[in-house]
Amino acid sequence: MALTNSNPRLAIVYSSVTGNTEQLAEMVQEAAQNQGITIELYPVDEFPLSQLQWLDVVMIGTYTWGSGEIPEEMHSLYQAIEKLGRKELRTAVFGTGDSFFAEFCGAVDRFRDMLYTQTKLVATLKVELMPQPSDEARCEKLIELMHSQ
Ligand SMILES: Cc1cc2nc3c(=O)[nH]c(=O)nc-3n(C[C@H](O)[C@H](O)[C@H](O)COP(=O)(O)O)c2cc1C
Repeated sequence: MALTNSNPRLAIVYSSVTGNTEQLAEMVQEAAQNQGITIELYPVDEFPLSQLQWLDVVMIGTYTWGSGEIPEEMHSLYQAIEKLGRKELRTAVFGTGDSFFAEFCGAVDRFRDMLYTQTKLVATLKVELMPQPSDEARCEKLIELMHSQ
């Protein structure tokens, strides 16, 4: 399993316009650090898709746009994972959304469905708008799941 390797390679790749998902991504990174796990944090436009070939764990952070849609800037990441052919890649997807909309965190659901078939999807996490201190425990749990399964 990935996290039992001597040097597992982990990354969080996220997109955020107003900062909520960025804050959540940082909270996830901090939860990992608290458990002694180093995880690189990349805004999606700074993430080289070629890294998908050698990472052990990819955690995706996304807000939701339109009517439950994946934001445009996440499409190439989505398509690259869809075509990757690495069923052993361990993944998670988390995001922020607004439950005012019909499809709360719809982009998380869309990523989840693809990651479930194309990778080893471990967990998902949805947060209402801006992450709160109470979400820290949920992020800790997410990281625990990444290395317990
Ligand atoms: C035009 C527009 C459409 C949105 N559509 C949805 C939606 O369908 N579902 C949802 O859960 N949130 C929706 N949202 C809310 C955002 O996903 C939410 O504010 C999110 O926290 C923004 O993340 P960010 O701060 O990382 O950019 C929408 C927001 C805007 C402005």
